[in-house]
Amino acid sequence: MTVRNILTYPDKFLRKKTAPVTAFDDSLQLLIDDMIETMYDEPGVGLAATQIGSGQSVIVYDITPEEGERQAEALINPEIVFREGSLLSEGEGCLSVPDFRADVKRNAHVRVEGQDRQGNPVVIDAEGFQAIVLQHEIDHLNGILFIDRISSLKREMYKRKRRKQLRQQT
Ligand code: NI
Repeated sequence: MTVRNILTYPDKFLRKKTAPVTAFDDSLQLLIDDMIETMYDEPGVGLAATQIGSGQSVIVYDITPEEGERQAEALINPEIVFREGSLLSEGEGCLSVPDFRADVKRNAHVRVEGQDRQGNPVVIDAEGFQAIVLQHEIDHLNGILFIDRISSLKREMYKRKRRKQLRQQT
């Protein structure tokens, strides 16, 4: 397993929509393992394939407490088929949007259909934090970042901050 480099805003690849996975082969298993390794290395609670420059429809996440036994989940070709209610995701962040957090309005309950890493169909009814993580990661597969879902004022604030940050790095 390899820790992969995470693409950060404003990398254009983050805006790409992923293509469905059709082959549940060794290269997919390797991609999933690398994604889990990369997520734990940061650490983060979730990661989408887009964030490491892969165009495949794959997400991984782990919402178990960091101090306990971890349980990483991989979801292939996930799609939200039902959503209801709303909640405020407080101080949401993203490994691809460094040094920034903001409140995001999300659905309180989502039903997600997809496949596990072997290709078996799965249905997940999620609420609360799991629902937030799934919405965030599935957004990535559609080229959407959480900063697209905050007020334009806050987004502009972040963009300015990020531009300044990038100027200082070069
Ligand atoms: Ni993210």
